[in-house]
Amino acid sequence: MLANRPPMGWNSWNTFGENIDEKLIMETADIIVEKGYKELGYEYVIIDDCWSLRQRDENGRLVPDPKKFPHGMKYLADYVHSKGLKFGMYSCAGILTCARYPSSYGHEYIDAQTFAEWEIDYLKYDFCNFPESGNCKNAYLTMSMALRSCGRDILFAACNWGVEEPWTWMRSRGIHTYRSTGDIFDNFASFRDIVHSQENNFSMSAPGCYNDIDMLTVGMYGKGNVGMEENACTDNEYLMQFSLWCLYSAPLILGGDIRKIDGFCKDLLQNKELIEINQDPEARPPFNVHNWSEKRILFKILSNNEYVLAFYNYDKEKVTLTVPFKDLGIPYESGKGLDLHDVMTGEKIGIVRDFLVEDLEGHTCKIYRGKLV
Ligand code: GLA
Repeated sequence: MLANRPPMGWNSWNTFGENIDEKLIMETADIIVEKGYKELGYEYVIIDDCWSLRQRDENGRLVPDPKKFPHGMKYLADYVHSKGLKFGMYSCAGILTCARYPSSYGHEYIDAQTFAEWEIDYLKYDFCNFPESGNCKNAYLTMSMALRSCGRDILFAACNWGVEEPWTWMRSRGIHTYRSTGDIFDNFASFRDIVHSQENNFSMSAPGCYNDIDMLTVGMYGKGNVGMEENACTDNEYLMQFSLWCLYSAPLILGGDIRKIDGFCKDLLQNKELIEINQDPEARPPFNVHNWSEKRILFKILSNNEYVLAFYNYDKEKVTLTVPFKDLGIPYESGKGLDLHDVMTGEKIGIVRDFLVEDLEGHTCKIYRGKLV
């Protein structure tokens, strides 16, 4: 089964936009292995928009731009596969892609065939330039069927930014992940608004078909295609972002230049516990124990009697948050408690009963994990 866990990998768009080529993709594949990302589960290397020529060939096939990809896509797929990784590409449900390259509307079956011949493993499928006369659900269904019949397992990553409430129909159309929001930018308000907009929709995200809240910006520090020089995220904000993606079982597709990411952000992206939380086989969404306008207390039930209790302060000001354990289904009279540790520091808190009080500085979070004992 494809997507029995949230997919993990890297995508070219957030940092590189149209400035992509074979060398970048090969170097990134090398780094995924050399810097230890692969062994943690990051496996898809995905080329986003701007990879093709502006015209199809005389047989109606898409053609890689020979200046950017001189050896073609099968060569690149072979290279990525030789590293034990998987190869992803991009097309779009409209007449043209977002950057106005040829797109798959009306060409779904031939394009799926081409992608299968190139041996790709993942297709991101965007929604720009969709014709007025088109039917969105049908367009995604058609490419889904084309991929299902192409003779190769290709994960289908739809990207229609939430149009027509994809959480209600993408699963039934055979899609594996669906982008539910507009594009992320590398700042706090952007990822906050994305996550908040989907809080009520994650209950429909589950193995086989996950709600995709976009590629991560962790480690971009304002640089690159979706970078915001003025308002780039801080390390604490990157921790909020990455851990939210993990708690909500969202695809973990890195958007930074991982050839250059070191220190805090590399450690964060490689945090084994956060990745385990993201990849938990049950993929249950956390619920909001308390939901004040700019604060959240999230409780996520993992498999094996494990739990995540996380506190998020989206406010600029310091706050104190209190969670009575009766709101976690663990009243004091039960005699039970959570044997917690801090996921980021590893510090053991011990068995906590009845309630937990947490002080949080502005734009910070705290994540605990443990068993019910
Ligand atoms: C849309 C998508 C982005 C990216 C660009 C490429 O905006 O939402 O993720 O794929 O198109 O042009």
